[in-house]
Amino acid sequence: MSRYDKWINKNTHLLTNQLAIVIGATGSIGKEIVDYLLTLKAKVIIGARNLGKAEALKNQLLLKHPDAKIYIEHIDISSLESIDKFQLEVDRKYQKADIFINNSGVYHLQKSLSNDGYEMHFATNTLGNYYLAKKIIYDLKENAKMIFVSSLAANFYKINFSDFQSLHTKNKMKVYGISKRIMMANAITLKNSLENSSIDVNIAHPGICATELFTKSHSKLFNIFIYPLMKIVFHSPKKAALNMIQAIFVETEENEWVAPRGLFGAWGYPKVLRFKKIIYDASIIEQVSDITADMISRHCEKK
Ligand SMILES: NC(=O)c1ccc[n+]([C@@H]2O[C@H](COP(=O)([O-])OP(=O)(O)OC[C@H]3O[C@@H](n4cnc5c(N)ncnc54)[C@H](OP(=O)(O)O)[C@@H]3O)[C@@H](O)[C@H]2O)c1
Repeated sequence: MSRYDKWINKNTHLLTNQLAIVIGATGSIGKEIVDYLLTLKAKVIIGARNLGKAEALKNQLLLKHPDAKIYIEHIDISSLESIDKFQLEVDRKYQKADIFINNSGVYHLQKSLSNDGYEMHFATNTLGNYYLAKKIIYDLKENAKMIFVSSLAANFYKINFSDFQSLHTKNKMKVYGISKRIMMANAITLKNSLENSSIDVNIAHPGICATELFTKSHSKLFNIFIYPLMKIVFHSPKKAALNMIQAIFVETEENEWVAPRGLFGAWGYPKVLRFKKIIYDASIIEQVSDITADMISRHCEKK
């Protein structure tokens, strides 16, 4: 038994017959999240933009978990229309779900706009993420867990309300960090709004690990020289994924996330930790919530 399986045995319990929806399952960490969920006997709906990749993942997982129930649905989380379609399909075809994990994310992209005209990191990591979370609530059971996947990068950059989507921000790390920080503000708003319901919202982050997130967005030189070093220095996607699994089983306060307990929060096994005060500043959260609600209501009016 691997040390991660031992960790799973010690810190979780079986999820037999529970239904989990995982977005971003085709990525490096996402695959491991789904693998753990299947080990815990959950059924999984994979929400993916690339159906070929999702089918290949399903086949790979079935070799290890031959009796697993794995379903695939299309979603492009950067498109509000695609989110509408995904939610309708989930609503129509499946029982209500017990777990929702949105692990999708983009990083260091060239400047580009989504179909809806939003900056692409913002459309994917922030707006689509929140819009889907709000819609999928109707497909969650009582006592369901909803997990937002953030990043250490959210710690480092202040939200610039005069360039909310980072359309004019050149520093790609900043664009990514802010998209995750706004995502967290929205997650906190949702968590607070569900306070009197039995659905629980948690934020988790994986620390740092060498994944496709970097290879997809960096140059050939980076992939030849830096990526192999990252693989040696940082922890593996298998270990990183434990944070999102742990987030299913714990309760957190609005100023806490599930994150690696080790050095700089980049390495280590999961622990519930406080994040920076500025991230849960009530006035910033309120401003974020108003701007995001306005964007979502413009989409809903168009429908
Ligand atoms: N790796 C790290 O060090 C690190 C650190 C902090 C936070 N994170 C966060 O951890 C999560 C997983 O990242 P990873 O490192 O495993 O990266 P990854 O391998 O690139 O996985 C990202 C996942 O998001 C999916 N995705 C991206 N855009 C999408 C869209 N428009 N619609 C639907 N799905 C979309 C990708 O789909 P495709 O397979 O089709 O590309 C993939 O499944 C992300 O939220 C990332 O921001 C990672």
